[in-house]
Amino acid sequence: MSRPTNILLGLTGSINLLNIYPYITEIQNHFNCRMHIMMTPSAQTFIPASTLIHSIDGKVFVDLTEKGEFKMPHVELTHWADVIIILPASANTLAKTAHGFAQDIVSATVLAADTPTILFPSMYLGMWKKNNVQRNVEILREDGFIVYPSPNPNHGGTSIITGGSIPTPKEVCRFIAEYV
Ligand SMILES: Cc1cc2nc3c(=O)[nH]c(=O)nc-3n(C[C@H](O)[C@H](O)[C@H](O)COP(=O)(O)O)c2cc1C
Repeated sequence: MSRPTNILLGLTGSINLLNIYPYITEIQNHFNCRMHIMMTPSAQTFIPASTLIHSIDGKVFVDLTEKGEFKMPHVELTHWADVIIILPASANTLAKTAHGFAQDIVSATVLAADTPTILFPSMYLGMWKKNNVQRNVEILREDGFIVYPSPNPNHGGTSIITGGSIPTPKEVCRFIAEYV
C-alpha cells in the first residue's frame, strides 16, 4: 500500500492511554493523514472523548449506535480507513479481536474490517506472559492481524507503574510504515 491517508485509531482501556496525545500528533505528522478515533467504553474511563476532539480533524466515535456523517460507523469507518491502529491494545481487546467479539465500536469495527489492522499490546507484563494472552496473540497473527512484538519495559516508550510500555511515538510510526 502507498502511504495511508486515512488512519483509524482505536483506543482501549490500558493505563498507557494516559500518554496517547504525543502518539496522535506523531502519527498525523509522520503520515500527513486524516484521522478518526474510536474508543471502547473502558478507554473512556481513562480519558474523555472531548479532550481528543481537539487533537484531530476527524471525529471521535464512542458508541456503536451513534449516527451522524456515518449511518453505521462500524461498517463505514472500515471503508474510510486505509489502516486501523489499535494503540494501546488491552489484553481484553486482544481477546475480543482474536475471538470475534463485537460489543463495542472498536471490536465491532475491527470485526467488520477488511483493512490492515495493527495492534500495539499494552499491559502489565505478568498479564502479557499468560498462556491465554499468548494464545490470543498467535490466533491474531494467524488470522492476518499485525501485532507489535511485546509491551516490553525496555522499548524506551511509556511505562506507567506496571502497565508495560508501549514503544515511543517514532517507533510506532516506523512499525506502521513497515506494513502499510
Ligand atoms: C487503572 C487501570 C489500569 C489498567 N491498565 C490496563 C493495561 O495497561 N492493560 C490491560 O490490558 N488492561 C488494563 N486494565 C484493565 C482493562 O481496563 C479492562 O480489562 C477493560 O475491560 C478493558 O476493556 P477494553 O479492552 O474494552 O478497552 C486496567 C484497569 C484499570 C482500572
